[in-house]
Amino acid sequence: MRVAIASDHAAVHLRAHLVEGLHKLGHEVEDLGCEADERVDYPDYASAVAGSVVTGNADRGILLCGTGIGMAIAANKVIGIRAALVHDVTTARLAMEHNDANILCLGARVIGPLVALECVTVWLAAEFEHRHQSRLDKIAAME
Ligand code: RB5
Repeated sequence: MRVAIASDHAAVHLRAHLVEGLHKLGHEVEDLGCEADERVDYPDYASAVAGSVVTGNADRGILLCGTGIGMAIAANKVIGIRAALVHDVTTARLAMEHNDANILCLGARVIGPLVALECVTVWLAAEFEHRHQSRLDKIAAME
């Protein structure tokens, strides 16, 4: 899969760990920043990854900040984005199976790198269960 990823300054190290893990899993990575030595505003990076996903440039997106909360709030403003903030492998798997989440949000200050990579691995391997499609249609109708 082609995966777009970005972080703010709070999650630069986690992003590097996940980029390495994504490559090892055989995915193509579009790394949209930020630079390690800058303090940035997370909505700018949420917008970049969300744009890559909705235009079809990337199949999926990953957004990282201190908590993952700001990234999820910002990304979900973009029509067509279903960004899910997860903290464990169960919610990561269900984010795909039930919600068809096209962006995964993680918090570098609240979970460790091993859990984060496991969440990403499980989410990318999971498949949407189409019995939930009518709920997603209702969400889309709200946009
Ligand atoms: C940045 O200090 C912090 O607010 C950000 O990384 C994130 O946690 C926001 O939701």
